[in-house]
Amino acid sequence: MSKGLFISFEGTEGCGKSTQVRLLTDRLQSLGHRVKTLREPGGTPIGEEIRHTLKHSKANHAMTAEAELLLMNASRAQLVREIIRPALAAGEIVVCDRFYDSTTAYQGHGRELDLEKVKAVIDFAVGDTRPDLTLFLHVPPAVSAARLRSRQENLPFVRDRIEEADQKFFERVAHGFGVIAAAEPQRIKSINGAQPVETVCAKIWELVQPILPRIGRW
Ligand code: TMP
Repeated sequence: MSKGLFISFEGTEGCGKSTQVRLLTDRLQSLGHRVKTLREPGGTPIGEEIRHTLKHSKANHAMTAEAELLLMNASRAQLVREIIRPALAAGEIVVCDRFYDSTTAYQGHGRELDLEKVKAVIDFAVGDTRPDLTLFLHVPPAVSAARLRSRQENLPFVRDRIEEADQKFFERVAHGFGVIAAAEPQRIKSINGAQPVETVCAKIWELVQPILPRIGRW
């Protein structure tokens, strides 16, 4: 049985996940916890190569939805076995920026792949390694689009194949996250990500703090 704690963050583009992942990691570390902060796709040398293929490679234009599903889960299968399971076995806290709910939302709802087949691929990739808590930051589509635009304006432009999808795709993804969160209220906690950063951070802490005693420190 795992001794650690596994927390994943989920949400659409521009929901504020990455900032909150950093803030939560800093807080946990300042309390003396050992934390592994990861991202998907990626998080291992193999996974980061797959991430490049999925997002930025010049040769990725023709990628099919099926190949996208399998690559996301190839990266995940590697991350689970190379990093997540050993970290949890050692009593660490794993904080992951996206995990398999993103596959259900993006490849299942967004790309409209068969949800049963998507689930079978996820099950094969993760086995029984599942988050204890998933923090789902939801923002209205207009906020998500505006934050994405501002990110693209402020960073040197790097092409991202997934962000090139049309608005309807992102609407299906957002709807998908809602369905996923409603189906598992015990594990997935929804937080309004359009609030100020400090408010979102405080809400997250209210959810994380009570489960820290499980691993013997708080
Ligand atoms: P991000 O690290 O900036 O969130 O980029 C990851 C992108 O990959 C984002 O567009 C969501 C997408 N994604 C999927 O489509 N399926 C998945 O399973 C995961 C983990 C991410």
